[in-house]
Amino acid sequence: MAKQEDDFKRVISHAKEYGYVFQSSEIYDGLSAVYDYAQNGAELKKNIRDYWWKAMVQLNDNIVGIDAAIFMHPTTWKASGHVDAFNDPMIDNKDSKKRYRADVLVEDYVAKIEAKIEKEVAKAEKRFGDKFDKEQFLATNQRVVDYQEQAKSILSRLAKSLEKEDLADVKKLIEELEIACPMSGSKNWTDVKQFNLMFGTKLGASAESAMDLYLRPETAQGIFVNFLNVQKTSRMKIPFGIAQTGKAFRNEIVARQFIFRMREFEQMEMQFFIKPGTQMEWYETWKENRMKWHLSLGMGEDNYRFHDHEKLAHYADAAADIEFRFPFGFKELEGIHSRTDFDLGNHEKYSGKKLQYFDPETRESYVPYVLETSIGLDRMFLAVFSNSLQEEELENGTFRTVLKLPPVLAPTKAAIFPLLKKDGLPELAQEIVDDLKWDFNVLYDEKDAVGRRYRRQDANGTPFCITVDHQSLEDRTVTIRHRDSMEQERVAIADVKRIIHEQVDMKTWLQKIQ
Ligand code: GAP
Repeated sequence: MAKQEDDFKRVISHAKEYGYVFQSSEIYDGLSAVYDYAQNGAELKKNIRDYWWKAMVQLNDNIVGIDAAIFMHPTTWKASGHVDAFNDPMIDNKDSKKRYRADVLVEDYVAKIEAKIEKEVAKAEKRFGDKFDKEQFLATNQRVVDYQEQAKSILSRLAKSLEKEDLADVKKLIEELEIACPMSGSKNWTDVKQFNLMFGTKLGASAESAMDLYLRPETAQGIFVNFLNVQKTSRMKIPFGIAQTGKAFRNEIVARQFIFRMREFEQMEMQFFIKPGTQMEWYETWKENRMKWHLSLGMGEDNYRFHDHEKLAHYADAAADIEFRFPFGFKELEGIHSRTDFDLGNHEKYSGKKLQYFDPETRESYVPYVLETSIGLDRMFLAVFSNSLQEEELENGTFRTVLKLPPVLAPTKAAIFPLLKKDGLPELAQEIVDDLKWDFNVLYDEKDAVGRRYRRQDANGTPFCITVDHQSLEDRTVTIRHRDSMEQERVAIADVKRIIHEQVDMKTWLQKIQ
């Protein structure tokens, strides 16, 4: 646990030190769970967004993208169920005065049981070596079987209680499991209450005429209310999708995990409109597609897993998360939800307008079902950033800090250094910058010894460093150093663009999905 905390602290301080993420309004001591993206962070975030947008919109001829407003008519949120059901069960500890999500306290308890299972598996793997059969071990080792049953029964009781809105039983479960406040160790809990997560605001100049509005808690509703407009103007036939990226706002109860859980965040969502009855097929297809998108970034298959929901959101008939191994354990990165006709059906009801698709083949009209993929851009940022940050021991026994970002996402693709600040080397380095900057984000750096400049760019996540020396003036070659292997090669200046392009081109990376 202490190692996880240290690793996470290192991620947060590195993000600040290298201009990725700052606490919002830091000079006023910050605003809880609100963050600003700095010069490198904004680039990394933009690259992740582009990587998603291209995979969704550009590469699928049946998906189009929109950009709907954050403010929406307030009835939207009545129809979507958010006014009545977008709640989290909260509980306060009477001694520490800290507030928690009751379900998260129970889930964290279960995560500890799962950690015990992983520990048993690791021990057995070590003992049996190549002969180890994980599946058989999980099915037959009595201790592990007991742990699994315990975890399952706790989660299923939690899901049932939440579904029935039996908050007294959620409290009873916390007490039976003897869950203590993580801050104080106290088990002195209040009752569990529901807490609506939407932020309210007002539209209008005078207090009397002002209209109550909400800041959208998900981008999806902007897609639903535009469904028919988009379908007609794009002449799409079902199945087709509408994608969107944008800000969403939630008054989160527990917001202590840096950019993992924020009050203002960005989502990348896609609603895929389908024929009723085909949802399970599309559910499996999109689970597979989205996992392939993640794996294409090369951050390690072992770092992802699916988690099927037992407790379904008010709009879903099936749902799964793609979980990622964050520094604090496996947690939700993306959700894939079969939303049925819940949203479109309710918008029809509340607006009195038909939101139906006319099928030209069967000549029937129907309210389509929807398959949704929804990923938090900030959470994806944290996954990429934390997974990339590494401390490496070098051959000479020293250490280097290196941010091994997938080159396609790196904010700066190359740093160009003159070996010395004289003899015409800065001028040639600047000439290379001026040529490359039309294709990539590059930077010029002449300060400090070259070794220190390399380290600085390693920590910054820059995949290439290009050094101009005296030989460069004679034969127009430079050394190009690769961030991950630290290998250096002498290449012609004329080839530099191609070498960088081969590593950072989005097309090459996205082709791995297909
Ligand atoms: N439209 C469906 C929807 O909003 P969700 O599971 O509530 O579903 C989808 O959210 C994704 O948005 C999550 O998987 C997560 O990546 C991201 N997300 C949700 N709440 C967040 C928060 N408070 N801070 C950062 N990301 C968040």
